[in-house]
Amino acid sequence: MRIFKSWFLSPDPLSAYPDCTCANLPPQAIACSRYLPQHEWHKAAYLPEMTYYTPYSSRFNQMLLLSFSGSLRTASSNTHTLIAAGLLAPPGVVIEHYDAIGELPHFTPDLDANLPQSIVDLRSRVGKADGLLIACPEYARGIPGSFKNMLDWLVGSPDFPGKPIALFNTSPRASAAQAALKLVLETMSATIIHDACATLHLLGKQTDPATIANDPVCGETLRHAIHALVEHLQVEAAPTYSPRGESPPAT
Ligand SMILES: Cc1cc2nc3c(=O)[nH]c(=O)nc-3n(C[C@H](O)[C@H](O)[C@H](O)COP(=O)(O)O)c2cc1C
Repeated sequence: MRIFKSWFLSPDPLSAYPDCTCANLPPQAIACSRYLPQHEWHKAAYLPEMTYYTPYSSRFNQMLLLSFSGSLRTASSNTHTLIAAGLLAPPGVVIEHYDAIGELPHFTPDLDANLPQSIVDLRSRVGKADGLLIACPEYARGIPGSFKNMLDWLVGSPDFPGKPIALFNTSPRASAAQAALKLVLETMSATIIHDACATLHLLGKQTDPATIANDPVCGETLRHAIHALVEHLQVEAAPTYSPRGESPPAT
């Protein structure tokens, strides 16, 4: 099953298979042909609407990841790491950075009935994302207050539970905050993808995104983590595929 593993990552798998006979099919059939093994591509012509591609049904071959930094510092190594991850994203994967944590109001359940627009926007962006990247520093052996405030706003969001998450730690000694963050995220029913979690040795270093991305160790660590998250999301999408009652192809 060579197609399935790469259909999100490759912008146009059909071009990689010049002997393909499906070139004249409508877009939804072509999208489907990215899923089927080549010898079954003829089935694509008969499939109905692509509703089983949720949550990717509206964009087929583009995956959206949203990143969050727990540091509001301008030259933050955590923020730079997330921007570096965006530079390293493979084709078909977009990593957007959410940069309004410092502007969110303090959490209070009193506002649940009439949410501020900034919270509606935050929840909406989380809802549209296929997965999340989080890089968070340790402050006084815990999670920075502004970041925990944002998480508290997401507790009541119906889109957060089950959201696949990659956790980046830019300081190996910051074990307490990482442990606390994992506990909080698991309590919120997020799905932490352990193969997509990574530690980078950036404590005390002057960083910038390009240097992190081009560093052989950091760059490779981030690439591996993104790949693990993307692969999890690809596999996760598989059980939703059931044209005419068939099982998804084995990967
Ligand atoms: C107020 C404050 C408290 C901190 N407390 C801890 C701590 O408890 N443990 C730790 O390992 N580092 C601590 N640090 C260091 C930061 O975690 C570290 O500098 C981190 O890399 C900063 O991330 P940034 O570059 O993304 O801003 C603290 C830093 C600040 C400013």
